[in-house]
Formats: sequence, C-alpha cells, structure tokens
Amino acid sequence: MRTVYLNGDYLPENEAMVSIFDRGFLMADGVYEVTSVLDGKLIDFAGHMARLKRSLGELDMINPLGDAEWLDIHRQLVRVNEVQSGGVYLQVTRGAPGDRDFVFPDPETTPATVVLFTQSKPGLIDSAQAKTGIKVISVDDIRWGRRDIKTVQLLYPSMAKMMAKAAGCDDAWLVEDGFVTEGSSNNAYIVKDGRIITRDLSNDILHGITRAAVLRFAREAQMDIEERPFTIDEAQAADEAFITSATMFVTPVVEIDGAKIGTGTPGTVAPRLREIYFEESRKTAI
Ligand code: PDD
Repeated sequence: MRTVYLNGDYLPENEAMVSIFDRGFLMADGVYEVTSVLDGKLIDFAGHMARLKRSLGELDMINPLGDAEWLDIHRQLVRVNEVQSGGVYLQVTRGAPGDRDFVFPDPETTPATVVLFTQSKPGLIDSAQAKTGIKVISVDDIRWGRRDIKTVQLLYPSMAKMMAKAAGCDDAWLVEDGFVTEGSSNNAYIVKDGRIITRDLSNDILHGITRAAVLRFAREAQMDIEERPFTIDEAQAADEAFITSATMFVTPVVEIDGAKIGTGTPGTVAPRLREIYFEESRKTAI
C-alpha cells in the first residue's frame, strides 16, 4: 500500500480522507502538477514548482508551502514508496469551507487542501508506445479559455481520451478554429524537412515543462524550431509528429485521423529528441 501526503501528514492511502465540501471536489477549484521520477530522482522539479506558483497566482490562491517543504515531501514520498520510475502527483485545492458557495472562502479561515501521491511505473523509459508510436484522432477543443493554468478540470480531456479509445486510437489532438492547440494531456508537434513545428505559447495551451526542456535541447543541438499553430492537414502531410509530457516524455505519433504520418513508423527526430531528453534531464534530476 502506498504512503500518501495529506495536509501535513504521511498516511496509508486508504486513511487519507478529504471533506465532501472540498472545493476541488465540488467545483474543480484546484491546480495540480505531475513530476516524473527516473532512477528515483525528480525530473525538471524547478520547472514544475515555477508553474505551480504561476497556476496558484492566476487563481488568487496562496502557495501553502515553501520551496524546501515541497521538495522534501516529493523526496520523502519517492523514498518511502521506493519509486524508481514513475511520477509524483500534487494537488492544491481552495480547501473545504464547510458548505457549498460560489464565492471563494477566506484563505485565513479555510486553508488549502494539499495532496501528493506517487505512481510507480516500471519500464517507463522503454515503453511500447515509445517504440511503435501512438495513433491520435482530432476532436474539437471545447475547453475553457485559460488552459495555461493547470487546473483539475479534466472532464473534457478525459472525454477526448475516451473518444480516441472508441476510435481504436491512443489519444486525441484538440483543434480550435482549424488549428491544433495540444494533445488531451500533452503538447503536440510536427516535423517537416527537419524543422520542428509546435504551437506558440499563449492562454490556449498548457506551457509544458517537457516542451520547454525539449525545445531548449533541440536548439542546443542546432535543430530548426518554428513556434506557430498548424492544422491537421499540415500534420498529416508532415514527415513526423510527436507529443511531449512529464508522463510520456517524447513519444512519436504515427497516425492522425487514420492517415499515416511519414512511413507510419517513428521517424528519426522524435526518437533522437527522446534520447537527448533523457540524457540531459537526468543531469539536473534531484
Ligand atoms: N499533463 N498539455 C496538457 C493539456 C497537459 O495536461 C499536459 C501535462 C501537458 C504537458 O505538460 P508537461 O510537459 O509539463 O507534463 C500539455 C500531465 C502529465 C497530466 O495531466 O497527467
């Protein structure tokens, strides 16, 4: 059984209880982060903490813990649960005011709810999907307008995943006004004539921590990068496609809406970026 963290306590997972009045539960009023763990170490931890602070700030929520405490909890959980590869999930909600009300509670009297737990995923690096690539479908992006905030409102991404499954695919790319925004829980890229194309940062997409790292490593490796929106037609005519996230790292996409990308197998750019990502991010793992 896992040990989890809840509001200052380390508990067996079946003893960690949250109020029915918690605003995370009633209103999806909370933010989260997922930090990957490789060789028992946290990948890109500083990036995830920076984004957490930004998400909290954008929602007028107080950061309930200091940097050292966040790091300590992450490390304790990885250690006690003996996670070698996998991740740490963190969630902060606006707490449980003791009743349902649209008005935000006073943070002085209603402290945030803080939950962290680990997910152990042996063999994450050599996943089957990384070798074969994944198939995606496109679906309308009907999410709210602040996708740059990592909130726990994940119903539509969850539905998009189910639509993909129903179509015999692995994931969905979301499309708004004719252009791909991002994947259901990852950032989306195509490669054409050696150039990496991915949507530019705005409130339309989550500012992926893996995205930032991969683009930095790609630039260092003298690869061409273009940050701009692209269409599904352009993606289907690309040489390669791929996604990035803290749980999938760099994973090739080999089919979009039934059309094979390139040869229909992972190309050279995505697997190379995946390798570089592991190599470089391990150097700063803590
Ligand atoms: N999802 N876009 C969306 C909508 C996401 O939910 C995620 C991450 C990303 C990639 O961000 P990062 O590289 O920082 O993981 C992009 C996490 C992994 C999840 O919900 O499980």
